[in-house]
Amino acid sequence: MYFKRMKIEQESPEEFGYGNIKYNLTESSTTDKTMKDVGIVLPEDTLLCYGDHYGNEKLRELLAKEYGVSKDNIIITVGACMAVFTIYSALLNPGDHVIVMHPNYPADIDITHSLGCNTEYYRLKQENGFKFDVDELASMIKPETKLVNITYPHNPTGTVISEADLRKIVKICEEKKIHILVDETYGDLTVGPRTTPRAASLSPYAISIESLSKAIGVPGIRTGWIASGDDELIMKLIAAKEQICICGSVVDEECAYQVLSRREELMAPIKEDIAVKFAIVKEFMASQDVLDWVEPEGGVVCFPWIKPEIDLDVEEYHKVLNEKYGVFIGPGHWFDFDDRHFRVGYAWPSVEELKAGLQGLVDAVKDVRKN
Ligand SMILES: Cc1ncc(COP(=O)(O)O)c(C=O)c1O
Repeated sequence: MYFKRMKIEQESPEEFGYGNIKYNLTESSTTDKTMKDVGIVLPEDTLLCYGDHYGNEKLRELLAKEYGVSKDNIIITVGACMAVFTIYSALLNPGDHVIVMHPNYPADIDITHSLGCNTEYYRLKQENGFKFDVDELASMIKPETKLVNITYPHNPTGTVISEADLRKIVKICEEKKIHILVDETYGDLTVGPRTTPRAASLSPYAISIESLSKAIGVPGIRTGWIASGDDELIMKLIAAKEQICICGSVVDEECAYQVLSRREELMAPIKEDIAVKFAIVKEFMASQDVLDWVEPEGGVVCFPWIKPEIDLDVEEYHKVLNEKYGVFIGPGHWFDFDDRHFRVGYAWPSVEELKAGLQGLVDAVKDVRKN
């Protein structure tokens, strides 16, 4: 295995220093919360022992209901990131054919490279509105394919999958007896109630992963999970987890349990806040003529681009954006795209920061454009 740092992490606000960023539009989560905001109370007598290797039992029981599986078909991980690593490393060997969605949260792609897989990209195309084409993905599956990965709601475009398409691709994978990993980290970030079924509830060949990080805005509780109705797979995954970390943090998992017990109550004001901020982004996009986008349908990010007719030095653009305007966004290269594209996270900053950050995006174009 060979690990290379991902740009999205190397250039992340945590690494750059939150204090050095005036308008932070890089984040793909809602505003970070305090323990008080989400009502976490940690009893003093919490025993700091090794925890259940699968993860906190009460937490797994809570989650199991959502997937219609047993609590032993849920494995708690250190964020959705570790869930991806655990699944890939348990299922894939060097040279294995794997199909991953592109663009994507980089770990969903890069871990397959770290493992030396034969990785093929299922590319979402801008000219098709970054829409999912189930037939195109299905046509890429070969007899030797070991795993298919998709991510919905999608990072970085904010597109979503229809229930019909999800059912169709899961059925195709089931018929071909290959696993499909569905990264549902943004699953709660839907407009209106969450109605698309969780993939793992549809078939033992579908593996769902998710975490608390994005929707509730508590990425510091490093807790995510894997759900799978495939008992044999679960045995491989728990073996991998035990080699990685034995078990998760009992403190984090207790916090996660308390937060998830109040998920609906906590999500209600968050969804209202997202709606306000999304309206600001929509209004902004309609008010200017230098950027274009595919309007997102879920999540809290979008992936606009500088219109092709605008002549500018893109490196200069990002420099001016960062240094003159104090605005930070996720440049295209984080997602293996050109830097005329960038990810804008609109739910993390305050309304004032969001408005100022969006204004900076067009002001920086005005400053550096050559035509
Ligand atoms: C699609 C997706 N999956 C997984 C992750 C990892 O998140 P975490 O480990 O905080 O749950 C991210 C983070 O950006 C993501 O966008």
